[in-house]
Amino acid sequence: YKEQFMAIERTFSIIKPNAVAQNVIGEIERRFEQAGLTIIAMKMLKLTREEAEGFYAEHKGKPFFAGLIDFMTSGPMIVQVLEGENAIHHNRELMGATDPAKAAPGTIRADFGSHEQVSANAVHGSDSPISAAREIRYFFTEDELFPH
Ligand code: PPS
Repeated sequence: YKEQFMAIERTFSIIKPNAVAQNVIGEIERRFEQAGLTIIAMKMLKLTREEAEGFYAEHKGKPFFAGLIDFMTSGPMIVQVLEGENAIHHNRELMGATDPAKAAPGTIRADFGSHEQVSANAVHGSDSPISAAREIRYFFTEDELFPH
């Protein structure tokens, strides 16, 4: 049976500065928890430009890069690790499409993302197991993870 082989995964998640400023941290966390994802690590921090550029290194050279870095260093955000069955894909379903204007109704980005600026799409989530591992390691040490 499929369920027998469903992987318990970890994914990296950011509640971005616009969502923190809008006072919807709790609402977003409620959606993750209600969907069966467990928060096994979290902290609030404000990124330096160097940290933001390192995190988004794969986008260096793209036209939106400078704006993305400006936005991600504009205020405090939440970095966290979510754990659960198919956590990477499940989180991306809950988030919706990258551009909030194109995200399906009821997704986090449709509800809390900016329609003026794609960078301000309320949340980030890893897109693959390799990026999840890299992104978790970028912000957390092993002893900062608290699996259930
Ligand atoms: S892409 O198109 O494959 O590079 O998109 P993606 O891998 O999903 O991530 C793009 C991240 O850059 C942010 N960003 C934008 N993406 C696309 N178009 C525009 N104009 C743009 N502006 C900013 C976008 O929010 C993605 O960051 P995260 O943090 O993953 O949401």
